Amino acid sequence: MTTGTRPEGRSSLSLAEVGPDRAAEVARVVHRAFGARPRLDPPSTAMDETVTSVAEALRADGGLLVLRQDQPVGALLFDSTVPGRLGLRRVSVDPAHQDHGVASAMVGVAEDVAAARGLDGVWLDARDELAETVTFWLRRGYVVVDRVGPSIRLAKTLELARALPTADDTREFGRRLAAQLVPGDLVVLTGSLGAGKTTLTQGIGAGLGVRGDVTSPTFVISRVHPSLTTGPELVHVDAYRLAGTAELDDLDLDASVADAVTVVEWGEGLAERLGQSWLDVRLDLLEHGGKAALAAAGPDRDVRRPPDLDPGEVRVITVRPRGPRWATSRLRSTLLA
Ligand SMILES: Nc1ncnc2c1ncn2[C@@H]1O[C@H](COP(=O)(O)OP(=O)(O)OP(=O)(O)O)[C@@H](O)[C@H]1O
Ligand SMILES: [Mg+2]
Repeated sequence: MTTGTRPEGRSSLSLAEVGPDRAAEVARVVHRAFGARPRLDPPSTAMDETVTSVAEALRADGGLLVLRQDQPVGALLFDSTVPGRLGLRRVSVDPAHQDHGVASAMVGVAEDVAAARGLDGVWLDARDELAETVTFWLRRGYVVVDRVGPSIRLAKTLELARALPTADDTREFGRRLAAQLVPGDLVVLTGSLGAGKTTLTQGIGAGLGVRGDVTSPTFVISRVHPSLTTGPELVHVDAYRLAGTAELDDLDLDASVADAVTVVEWGEGLAERLGQSWLDVRLDLLEHGGKAALAAAGPDRDVRRPPDLDPGEVRVITVRPRGPRWATSRLRSTLLA
């Protein structure tokens, strides 16, 4: 027991990816965490884990161990049985060390590991009787995607960021994004004036193969571009001049959203309610927030900036998938490939 010590923040935690040599510490945290849980029917198999079984798991896929002042307080095992996604098993926080952000810190590092491994996202199984546990994951953008025995499967596709050196690169990104879009998909674009939202939408329109030039609508707030083939139409909305949700309702997008690909510039805080799922897409100038966006989404291996390029042109795009539509998608790997 750590009585009499000051409450500590996350800064005092150290998190590391560990192998089988740390199996005893990981097994101890797992037993402490699962031993303190309410009895479930059927019971969790976590209490059957031994140092040997944990060592095997760590040898195969690795895991995380969290230390506070050299004392193990959190642990989890990685699972790579689902291609393209990192599984988390035995997510454990020592009950004496809850409310210290141990679990949050572990999830953050696990997501970084998944990103560094080039994976699309993360999944885990949780018992739905444990409402607090489920809420913890839902708050972090995880979505229920399946039921597996006595558990529910939660999954999330990680955000991605990449640098777009020129307007043509932004259009090309839009084309690649369009290849992933199906009727009913909603893209909410955020970024300052001239950030490249319409330029990206031009690429989406080209990728979908729709009629008409995608332009900044001066007088019209919403424009429909029918498909030239059999694909979905593009509904392009510029919400800049919209005063609020009531005016968005007047556009009657509900009527078209199920069959179209809907792209809303300046739609943040407005358009999300058009669907359960959407892509939250941000464009930043590299010099104004773009570097931070890249760093937040992982290694900035995508910054290509030839010396002859105007640094003021470089944009950083960040795509955050929201809702069940994207929770098990290959969006991240296809857009970063
Ligand atoms: N890397 C880049 N990506 C996108 N646009 C770029 C880039 N570099 C330069 N540009 C230029 O920046 C301008 C972006 O204008 P665009 O209309 O796409 O922005 P917007 O975000 O839609 O602006 P608004 O807020 O007015 O709707 C275009 O003139 C484009 O050619
Ligand atoms: Mg625009």
